[in-house]
Amino acid sequence: MSIRILSTTPLVGRHLHTLGENFPEMMIAPYRSIAWKMALASAEAMLVLLSEPLTEGDLELAPRLKVIGSYSVGVNHLPLALCRARGIQIVNTPSVLTDATADLALALLLGVTRRIAEGEALLRSGTWKGWAPDQLLGYGLTGKTCGILGAGPIGRAFARRVWALGMKPVFWDREGKHRPVDFGAGVARRLPLPALLPQSSVLSVHCPLTEETRGLLNRARLACLPHHAVLINTARGGILDESAAMERLHSGLLGGVGLDVYEGEPKLDPAWLRAPNTVLLPHLGSATVETREAMARILCDGVGKILASPPC
Ligand code: DGY
Repeated sequence: MSIRILSTTPLVGRHLHTLGENFPEMMIAPYRSIAWKMALASAEAMLVLLSEPLTEGDLELAPRLKVIGSYSVGVNHLPLALCRARGIQIVNTPSVLTDATADLALALLLGVTRRIAEGEALLRSGTWKGWAPDQLLGYGLTGKTCGILGAGPIGRAFARRVWALGMKPVFWDREGKHRPVDFGAGVARRLPLPALLPQSSVLSVHCPLTEETRGLLNRARLACLPHHAVLINTARGGILDESAAMERLHSGLLGGVGLDVYEGEPKLDPAWLRAPNTVLLPHLGSATVETREAMARILCDGVGKILASPPC
């Protein structure tokens, strides 16, 4: 059978199954397996995960490809220029993961500042001796400024959450425009990085990884943050210089780091495991049942529509 839809996984829920009822020429084969590579020859649609980068070489094996569906909002793992040149459409999953990702960024922020993992480890170790005035003291957030990199839906959703904690959100985004940002619960200033960084007691990353944002939080820019600032990244690993962040943690200049994403994930720089005041999660931003099902729905609907549309 000639394969029209090639997916690397069944996704969450029944949406891929339903798509397969309309397009029975579907195959699920592991990424880069022999079956997957062979099916590329006839595939008109490919569905991949954010952890499954596609190269120009992969696309050369897929001459009939019309659409790539990525089970993610981020599309930095796809050869976008080639897709544009060949007229291959991209379907991703924006909007439905906004709240889940912003929630997780907030969980990291509270986890770091209130030392939740350390407290739980103390309790589970069986060595807790009871309440003490200076035990596991963290830092409060009320009244502090939260710098948010990225004024898209996730950045704005995170702003609503920190605003509810009594923080003052300020934004930077790639457009660099100075228009204020309406984040739904209020309006916040949009600042250039040199103005935003020194006032950000908390800095949270919510912009996509692109050529402009790769390495954005480099050593020099991290040095502009106030002492004891807390850094949260639920966006993409390549935006942050991880070695520079670790050095500043060890020297006490950064107050804490909460990460859900890493450069080169799932490989993690082992030095992270020894870094103080860190909370490290395995890319769980969109990991709720509701969100992953909604992502599957958007993806399958989008791919199905493109396959069903007559050729132009
Ligand atoms: C995405 O979908 O790109 C996010 O990284 C999920 O956490």
